[in-house]
Amino acid sequence: MSSAPFDNKALKDALSATSQAVERMINPELSVPAGPEARVVEAMRYAFFSGGKRLRPFLVLASSELFGVDKKQALRVAAAVECVHCYSLVHDDLPPMDDDDLRRGKPTVHKAFDEATAILAGDALLTLAFDMLSDERAHPDPNVRLRLIQCLARASGHHGMVGGQMIDLSASSQKLDEAEIHRLQQMKTGALISFATEAGAILGHASSKAMSSLQGYARNLGLAFQIADDLLDVEGDADEVGKATQKDASAGKATLVGIMGIDRARQQAEMLTEQAIEHLSEFDDKASLLRAVAHFAIFRRT
Ligand code: IPE
Ligand code: IPE
Ligand code: MG
Ligand code: MG
Ligand code: MG
Repeated sequence: MSSAPFDNKALKDALSATSQAVERMINPELSVPAGPEARVVEAMRYAFFSGGKRLRPFLVLASSELFGVDKKQALRVAAAVECVHCYSLVHDDLPPMDDDDLRRGKPTVHKAFDEATAILAGDALLTLAFDMLSDERAHPDPNVRLRLIQCLARASGHHGMVGGQMIDLSASSQKLDEAEIHRLQQMKTGALISFATEAGAILGHASSKAMSSLQGYARNLGLAFQIADDLLDVEGDADEVGKATQKDASAGKATLVGIMGIDRARQQAEMLTEQAIEHLSEFDDKASLLRAVAHFAIFRRT
């Protein structure tokens, strides 16, 4: 993996179009009420409209395109996944968790507001995601909506992201081996990335063969993405990355970089990226942005 910034114009344009479209979709859901509860909505807006790569929404849109899914339906699901992701970041940054002051180049939500408001804003972003998926604008078929809700719930809860965050926190007091770290990362980061990728297949009634190809892609991508995040913690510059760096080792975080070293972890990320791309062979050129984003996942500088 070279350290040169990743350059693929089509992908950059697609990521920035995703960002704008998802922000347009969420905006009416986050209109600020007149009462004193306005503060929590302002904190939700602060968490959501703070930039970010919008990788998960991009994956929903790119996988939806493979199956000719209606763009507005895909965007609603994309915005819902980003709500869960933003909530996970707000809570991840709180003092009893990673205790971070900087996120996406700005003060974290608990710094800009206060801890109680950050907890509530996270709770409400998580809840909003399921509200959005239950709306018939997500898909006219209630069975499809129910499947989306169930899959997102499983990816987010104790079998997925929350479970992974629990292992991440407890890992500082016990040493994990490579297989255990893979499991931790698959849960804390991979599960939501998998849901985002599978969402297009759910919306588009994809065949089980297509679904399992996308699952294989997403599983490798999720692991590569978290290794890249851990490499950025060691090698990145906080100004560029937009969050504090050089924190994982001193916090006792269990990472592949920690047990394998930088070079072997980077090789592992590259290998996982190649494996992710191999799963896309049946989709031909239609999957070119999914291939590009797998490279971006490890070449990125933020
Ligand atoms: C950061 O996710 C947390 C991880 C799961 C590694 P991203 O790197 O996708 O963060 P944003 O959304 O671009 O800020
Ligand atoms: C967080 O992993 C994953 C989440 C589920 C939020 P990290 O703690 O490494 O993410 P950053 O580095 O703070 O973005
Ligand atoms: Mg964390
Ligand atoms: Mg963190
Ligand atoms: Mg990190």
